[in-house]
Amino acid sequence: MSSPRSIKQKDPLLDSALRPKTWDSYIGQDKIKKNIKIIVSAAKKRDEAPEHILFYGGPGLGKTTLSHIIAHEMEADIKVTSGPAIERAGDLVAILSNLSEGDVLFLDECHRINKTCEEYLYSAMEDFKLNLILGKGPMARTMELNIPHFTLIGATTRIALISSPLRDRFGATFQLSFYKNEDIEKIIQRSAKLLKIGISPQACKIIAERSRFTPRVANRLLKRARDFAQIKEKDVIAEEVAIEALEALEIDKMGLENEDRRILKIIIERFDGGPVGIQALAAAAAEEEDAILEIYEPYLMQLGLIERTHRGRMATKLTYQHLGIEYKKQDSLL
Ligand code: ADE
Repeated sequence: MSSPRSIKQKDPLLDSALRPKTWDSYIGQDKIKKNIKIIVSAAKKRDEAPEHILFYGGPGLGKTTLSHIIAHEMEADIKVTSGPAIERAGDLVAILSNLSEGDVLFLDECHRINKTCEEYLYSAMEDFKLNLILGKGPMARTMELNIPHFTLIGATTRIALISSPLRDRFGATFQLSFYKNEDIEKIIQRSAKLLKIGISPQACKIIAERSRFTPRVANRLLKRARDFAQIKEKDVIAEEVAIEALEALEIDKMGLENEDRRILKIIIERFDGGPVGIQALAAAAAEEEDAILEIYEPYLMQLGLIERTHRGRMATKLTYQHLGIEYKKQDSLL
């Protein structure tokens, strides 16, 4: 099975080198930026930590970046952890009791925190207290521990998996959506400058169009195109170089990678174009359901290559056209 690492994987070095550190350099998500600026400047005026904030949206859309900017604007330290990293209540106690007043705690993949730890988090978020249970059975004692006033920034790709008691404890929730192509072009230009490589407007446009409306993907493709330019000893990425790099990565004109095309072909060839349920599709593709739901499907739906009906996922006329497969109208299924 081909492994779609390129779409799935975070690259901490690439991300942090190119990540904007201030509002001025952050491109896109204008409404969210405006709202957060208000939350942050009001909190600063009150000399308080801002309310807890929840970000949701697909991978690479800027949840981590925005959290770092918030901490930077608050002149606060940011501590980073994730739902799966907090295995026992003790892990959470250690993290929370090591915070300083005003710190930001970034909790990535917060839908994956275990239930017991999540319950400890409630009083920490609400009253900045931890109610610890020491010992077991009749000898058990409770102990209240004060923790510093901090701001929790939760990030998730799956808002539906966040329980309502946890969701209710965030003062503000923001959905990060796909970026406009013109914003992706600006991000590519900014990143090219930081990477000290020139890029022609045509090359920039071509890379932007194949970046899944996602800054992380755009930056990754830019770096690959830079490699191609550099082996040719060019200090500008021209259109032909960008195309060569994208072809080498097997990214087509709609920005699809091998794995996207494989999933679409499975819907068409094994399920007659659908409808197919997510479980059956994941099993046939030997993929995790989560990967299909979080990584592939949102982009394919945005392009109109997958339609979600109450009976499952379906390929569309455009899917057949794009893959060069003859389209047979399936009236009976509609
Ligand atoms: N790099 C990654 N995301 C970015 C953004 N939103 N603005 C500027 N550069 C970025």
